[in-house]
Amino acid sequence: MNVVALIDFDAATGAATGHRLVDADAPHLRVTDLAATRGDGIFETASLVAGRVQALEAHLVRFQQSARMLDLPDPDADVWRAAVLAIAEALTAGGVEEGSIKFVLTRGVEGAGIPTGWAFGTVSPDFTADRTQGVRIVLLDRGYRHDVAETSPWLLAGAKTLSYAVNRAAVREAARRGADDVLFVSSDGYLLEGPTSTLVLRLDARLVTPRVDIGILAGTTQGDLFTWAEQEGFATSYELLTPADLDRAEAAWLVSSVRHVAPVRAVDGVPRTVDAELTARMNAALDARTR
Ligand SMILES: Cc1ncc(COP(=O)(O)O)c(C=O)c1O
Repeated sequence: MNVVALIDFDAATGAATGHRLVDADAPHLRVTDLAATRGDGIFETASLVAGRVQALEAHLVRFQQSARMLDLPDPDADVWRAAVLAIAEALTAGGVEEGSIKFVLTRGVEGAGIPTGWAFGTVSPDFTADRTQGVRIVLLDRGYRHDVAETSPWLLAGAKTLSYAVNRAAVREAARRGADDVLFVSSDGYLLEGPTSTLVLRLDARLVTPRVDIGILAGTTQGDLFTWAEQEGFATSYELLTPADLDRAEAAWLVSSVRHVAPVRAVDGVPRTVDAELTARMNAALDARTR
């Protein structure tokens, strides 16, 4: 089941005015939209579980941050929230228990000066195997230093842009190496993030994730996971991490909105132990989120 909402924009001011649910099978995007021709836009993907859109406010905040980094008009959170919730309602009414809702803002049709926006909801694939048995990852050099966000902000490291061709190519490289997913490493040797996920390690009895000022996305799922972990008595921290930290970590996970928590069961072909019990508790806690 697919559901689409288009965002309406005022032609004079470019401000978002509301949304309309439209036929999900009809064409809606112009071939000259800068999303299609340049990947020039931003997006978020939130998960829908049992009728609730998870971490919606954190996704809206990150959407606004990405818009600022790309000099796009500030997305009106009320308009986008209403569109996402309308899609969630339609999916839930259609019997969808686990779904995803992607919302996209582009620079619009070339020359028009008005953005394009939409939200798209669909059913999630079954991630049970990834969540329980885990994923095999490879470490791949991203080719940027860890201080890239500071030295070269035009590279948009840390913005959630539509230009994911590189991230997709990295996953294909992982498949060529017999793995399922990727952990990017900076050219100066720091662990970064997956192409669509955040790294979390259990290190010396605390949960650790890479610092977010090193050109990576601040993960909404990792944020909620750390809130839960702190309630459970875990210490948490944001640090500069290296492959040696991954080697000595008691457990490692890639976490993201739709797949949730996937334990890492091999790195560059070397098997790792999966903490099945803690992973199950993490996924249950994320499922139980009420917002
Ligand atoms: C590059 C990147 N890092 C991290 C994440 C995880 O973020 P979230 O937990 O908000 O889904 C994503 C999500 O797709 C991503 O694309």
